Amino acid sequence: MNVYDSELLRGILSQKGYSATSKPEEANLIVVNTCSVREHAETRAIGRLNELSRYKFENPDVKLAVIGCMAQRLGEKFLKEVPALDFVLGTEELFKLPDYLEKKGKSPTVALSFSELKNIDSLPQRKNKFSSFVAISRGCENFCSYCIVPYVRGSEKNRKVSEIMKEVQCLAESGCKEVTLIGQNVNSYKDNGDDFADLLREVSQTGIKRIRFMTSHPKDLSLKLIEAMSDLEKVCEHLHLPLQSGSDRILEKMNRKYNSSDYLRLVDSVRGKVDNLSLTTDLIVGFPGEKEEDFQKTLEMVEWIEFDSAFMFKYSPREGTKAFLFEDDVPNEVKSERLQTLIELQKKIAQKKNKNLIGRTEEVLIDGKSKRDKASWKGKGRSNKTVIIPKGENDDNLLGEIVKVKITGADSFTLFGETVKNR
Ligand code: 5AD
Ligand code: SF4
Repeated sequence: MNVYDSELLRGILSQKGYSATSKPEEANLIVVNTCSVREHAETRAIGRLNELSRYKFENPDVKLAVIGCMAQRLGEKFLKEVPALDFVLGTEELFKLPDYLEKKGKSPTVALSFSELKNIDSLPQRKNKFSSFVAISRGCENFCSYCIVPYVRGSEKNRKVSEIMKEVQCLAESGCKEVTLIGQNVNSYKDNGDDFADLLREVSQTGIKRIRFMTSHPKDLSLKLIEAMSDLEKVCEHLHLPLQSGSDRILEKMNRKYNSSDYLRLVDSVRGKVDNLSLTTDLIVGFPGEKEEDFQKTLEMVEWIEFDSAFMFKYSPREGTKAFLFEDDVPNEVKSERLQTLIELQKKIAQKKNKNLIGRTEEVLIDGKSKRDKASWKGKGRSNKTVIIPKGENDDNLLGEIVKVKITGADSFTLFGETVKNR
């Protein structure tokens, strides 16, 4: 969502005549978008902003802005951490940055209000021409006990189907092949009588070739959505379904509103309907009160379900959340050990699953050259896995194409393959 917000702001600024540079020494305006989900992200953002402050000391005309979740959370307090800041704009005020720049009001400016979100009449300026995020909702009201998002992004606001369709159609016309519909919980999307499955059917009617979505909350994953995934050719066989913990006791304390058996039932029903499903997840270790036996339950679930990949985190206490009131009683060394054990297990599983794909043919959307080897293309399969393809004779310009690739090798994170002739 932060990537998308940055793209939106880039679009708004370019309408006002700004152009982007990746070199801070060339910039008149430096903007840092921020995440508050874990403390580590916040510490890094403060470090980066203090580093960037030097461009302002060298040239006092340079403006320095911090935007997004951390700005929303800290407000005025940000000025103590980074005294050089000119603007601290929260998760909804950030879109007004050009107005604040023109106003030349009091400096520094701190603006945090949540207004009724209007459709932002500007197209995001995207880095990836062929695969784009499209926000379908903002905010969240699930209040998982560890999570800061509902406080910094406010309650859930859904965009209208018509507005989403306009954006997707515009993307398709400009040559984009794939959209990822994003929201903190896409499964609770509603616009009048339409739910998320209806929206997927609508988006399928456009010229876009592939559709993805994230994130899905297990408590709201409906049979209707599973059926839409299975019916709609354009919807990729990938589901990101955060489990968070395998222990029912911990899931209850996390306020996730499902237990491990509910989750297993869901996985069975999606796998039963969607062939070759790629299933990914988020997991937290060291939540307050997590005993060794709770952690073992997480390992058991991971071993049983065999996720294709997982984002795994140490619990980070966030002030203002319900879990902040619980004692953060799992020592950091134990959190680190558990995280390491979990990562090792997941790595083995991913490697095994990826090796099983050797010999199969995948449809890959080529999005650039491989970073490690410029003579190879890189892209994403329908499973969302990265595929590296050495350039063949007729493969001079595959950028933005969806090509058939035979998988010839695999490790835990990447597939390797070669293009199949007569594509
Ligand atoms: N500590 C650790 N991980 C967290 N997440 C959210 N809040 C926290 C926290 N306080 C993780 C969850 C979520 C992902 C986006 O970040 O796993 O799904
Ligand atoms: Fe946070 Fe839970 Fe909302 Fe996800 S569903 S953003 S984890 S409160």
